[in-house]
Amino acid sequence: MDCVDLDALEQQARRVMPPASWVFCDTGSDDEITAKDNVTAWRRLKLRPRMLRDIVNIDTGVTLLGTRVNSPVMVAPTGRHNLFHAEGELATARGAAAAGVLYVMSTSGMNTVEAVAKAGGGAPQWFQLYMQPDREHTGALLDRCAAAGFKALVLTVDQPVPGWSPRGYRTPVIARDDVRSVNMVGQPVARTAYDPARKGIVMFPTTFRDLEWLVKRCPLPVVVKGVLRGDDAARCVDVGVKGIMVSNHGGRHLDTTVTTAEVIAEVAAAAGRNAEVYVDGGIRRGTDILKALALGARAVLVGRPPLWGLSVSGAAGVQTVMEHFREELVRAMQLTGTPALKDATPDLVAK
Ligand SMILES: Cc1cc2nc3c(=O)[nH]c(=O)nc-3n(C[C@H](O)[C@H](O)[C@H](O)COP(=O)(O)O)c2cc1C
Repeated sequence: MDCVDLDALEQQARRVMPPASWVFCDTGSDDEITAKDNVTAWRRLKLRPRMLRDIVNIDTGVTLLGTRVNSPVMVAPTGRHNLFHAEGELATARGAAAAGVLYVMSTSGMNTVEAVAKAGGGAPQWFQLYMQPDREHTGALLDRCAAAGFKALVLTVDQPVPGWSPRGYRTPVIARDDVRSVNMVGQPVARTAYDPARKGIVMFPTTFRDLEWLVKRCPLPVVVKGVLRGDDAARCVDVGVKGIMVSNHGGRHLDTTVTTAEVIAEVAAAAGRNAEVYVDGGIRRGTDILKALALGARAVLVGRPPLWGLSVSGAAGVQTVMEHFREELVRAMQLTGTPALKDATPDLVAK
């Protein structure tokens, strides 16, 4: 699979995916304003390139919570990969490993954490958790993740209830027995659940009290995903969180939020040196990645693009997409006189 540019790949993915899979992948909530704004917000930021710098050797390597990877672009947690390819998350894990990038597996994955870890062959992986009401059950899942070799736990907090997608309503994923979150099977349905009809997953409005419990209980460092404000980030750090993911879930829940490009600097400043800060939402170019790093992110995540690659070409498609991002980042670093990621400082982006 070639990836000349992501727009062409997106169109190809749209052609090969069943209509409901395409809608599930592509849709934002309500009027899809945030989903679109995320992309344009990065594009609108202007770079201030430095000239006459030595750019012969470009280093995109970075350490993420103690793990060295060759690229600051992670595969974001996205659910239900078997809707995109028969091998589902196993193919994604293989593709990410082949590209040398970190894969964050979703709670809504359709393969077991053990199988996904094995498919990754020891490559770095984190597990994304939707907090569940039964702590014993959640605790057991955390232990399984640690035993399988996952290196961090990412708690998603921006979906206390699911957003509303008119497109998803009109073209729903048809319930099938094989479309379920296998790692959540057996979870009791709580009375506080908002969406008990969903197979195997219960929405549970997570609070700071739950986060405190999680940080104490979890054998892995905890990252919080879905933060859009500096004050929330500072509070998470106070509780002992090691990483903050600035995200609005790709515009899939609350519509008309601030874009992540607008708030990354505020959140990075609030988190200070006590936590690593990452960002996702609308990152489609190497220049987007460089801007995010310049504004304070240690790494970025991409959600929809690896799913386009997965649907078109399985593990090889994921690998190609993630390598494409790294190649574009290298070019952006060369053209801006930025030989290493530490040189991506805020003055690279016009105010
Ligand atoms: C199809 C799909 C499924 C997703 N599922 C999850 C999920 O299970 N957990 C989660 O934390 N985020 C989920 N997300 C959000 C992504 O992790 C990420 O925040 C978002 O896709 C980034 O925006 P981008 O797609 O513009 O790169 C999902 C996104 C998509 C597109």
